[in-house]
Amino acid sequence: MADSKKVLEIIKAIGLEMEAHKGYLTELDQPIGDSDHGINLARGFGAVEQKLPSLEGKDIGTILKTVGMTLVSTVGGASGPLYGTAYMKAGMAVAGKLEVDKADFLTLMDAAIQGVAQRGKAETGEATMLDAMVPSLKAMKEADAQGKDVKEMLAAGIEAAWAGAESTKDMIATKGRASYVGERGLGHQDPGATSYSYMLQVIGERI
Ligand SMILES: Nc1ncnc2c1ncn2[C@@H]1O[C@H](COP(=O)(O)OP(=O)(O)OP(=O)(O)O)[C@@H](O)[C@H]1O
Ligand SMILES: [Mg+2]
Repeated sequence: MADSKKVLEIIKAIGLEMEAHKGYLTELDQPIGDSDHGINLARGFGAVEQKLPSLEGKDIGTILKTVGMTLVSTVGGASGPLYGTAYMKAGMAVAGKLEVDKADFLTLMDAAIQGVAQRGKAETGEATMLDAMVPSLKAMKEADAQGKDVKEMLAAGIEAAWAGAESTKDMIATKGRASYVGERGLGHQDPGATSYSYMLQVIGERI
């Protein structure tokens, strides 16, 4: 499915995608948060980009762990430790591998998402990134079980991620800053669920 070189290409493309949607992600964070989600992620992935040349030729586990540690150390706020944990857990799940196949991909996504749930002490239905992550992983596992190929599996995951992001509009947030606005958050899409959907979309476009 992907070798180290492809993973580096995807990470770089995710950084560009976060930069491209920085304004929109920040705008989504305005009514329910503190207007910094896009800025946070663009800063974090900007720091990641600086490290990419030193990661050439490294195994995928090391690449993903380094991305995670860089996000934790450069992004203030909730999304740094959360995405940082996701990438670190993903890296640990494929430690030493120079290539990941479809099964490895599902394993690393599972580890990443469980990492976010543990770190955030959150579950689905609380209007967070998990509301895009959990249904997308479920859809990808189902597609895999039905014998769908990688492309079809990712397409199913991306569709479910965006539907999940959309569904956060109908949820009252109980985690993070968004929980302070309570019912006033209704009608607003969660920034983290949106940034995750963009990330998965980048993966789908490049595989
Ligand atoms: N406990 C949590 N578990 C899972 N995801 C969370 C949690 N808290 C916040 N999030 C996610 O983080 C996103 C906000 O990230 P941001 O970069 O704006 O950091 P922040 O401003 O410090 O966050 P927050 O205001 O949510 O505390 C939310 O949209 C949500 O998806
Ligand atoms: Mg914020």
